[in-house]
Amino acid sequence: MLSIDELTRRFGEKAAVDKVSLRIERGSFVGVIGRSGAGKSTLLRMVNRLTDPSEGRIVIDGVDVTALRGQALRDWRARCAMIFQQFNLVGRLDVLTNVLIGRLNKAPLHRSLLKSFSVEDRAIALAALEQFDIANLASQRADQLSGGQQQRVAIARALVQEPDIILADEPIASLDPRNTKIVMDGLSRINRDYGITVLCNLHSLDLARAYCDRLIGMSAGRVVFDGSALHLTEDVARELYGLEVGDVIDIEESVQASRLNGSSRVEVARSVPLAAA
Ligand SMILES: Nc1ncnc2c1ncn2[C@@H]1O[C@H](COP(=O)(O)OP(=O)(O)OP(=O)(O)O)[C@@H](O)[C@H]1O
Ligand SMILES: [Mg+2]
Repeated sequence: MLSIDELTRRFGEKAAVDKVSLRIERGSFVGVIGRSGAGKSTLLRMVNRLTDPSEGRIVIDGVDVTALRGQALRDWRARCAMIFQQFNLVGRLDVLTNVLIGRLNKAPLHRSLLKSFSVEDRAIALAALEQFDIANLASQRADQLSGGQQQRVAIARALVQEPDIILADEPIASLDPRNTKIVMDGLSRINRDYGITVLCNLHSLDLARAYCDRLIGMSAGRVVFDGSALHLTEDVARELYGLEVGDVIDIEESVQASRLNGSSRVEVARSVPLAAA
């Protein structure tokens, strides 16, 4: 169980995350939704302490994550794998080595310093690539892969880390529909088969509804919705995205513009009920 208590992060005067309290059950697939600037990334980044909270606590299985330092903090980071919109692979390294980086925390210090991996680690990394149908790319440089392939490598790297929780910050924001499905299905399978908790920021309400057991809606740093996708009514979605009647016209225009320039960000706008103004 991950408990977040009155968690706040301020940047100057502004609270990016404002007294957020949540309980996240082990093995759940939770989507964090809300418009740009709502505080979704800041919330995720605080969970693995890429960003430190200004106030409040994060407790996992009774351990106060907010107080961890040194090795204990590194151990915690190894238990929560992060997946980013921009994949964050090491471009000049081959795919297999990128996945093996996820094993570094499992290796004895001398091996991890030398980046020398055991036969077992290599087998685990290859098996992870096989799960995502990209074992044939193992020896290719990561920067020669398509976005969808890179994100699959990033998920394989997260998986071999054997984390308790995967924090995915808009993992599909720069992918086409086919790769979006492959990546979301991959996260869903990891969640189901290994019981790894997934906390995933998503711009698309449709995807959030399709994949998540539970949705957390954020607005201006606060949680304004917390429940099953079934309960996310059009009214709540409208409140969540702060849409006023006048905004609907802007949104429709932005949908048109995004269609013209092929932006993947169109999902948000498309998902919001336009006709019900
Ligand atoms: N390092 C920072 N320094 C100053 N302000 C920041 C910093 N990080 C985030 N913020 C501010 O905190 C607020 C929340 O940002 P955050 O990135 O968490 O939002 P988000 O919901 O992830 O948005 P998006 O959907 O655009 O990714 C924003 O107003 C942002 O400008
Ligand atoms: Mg963000």
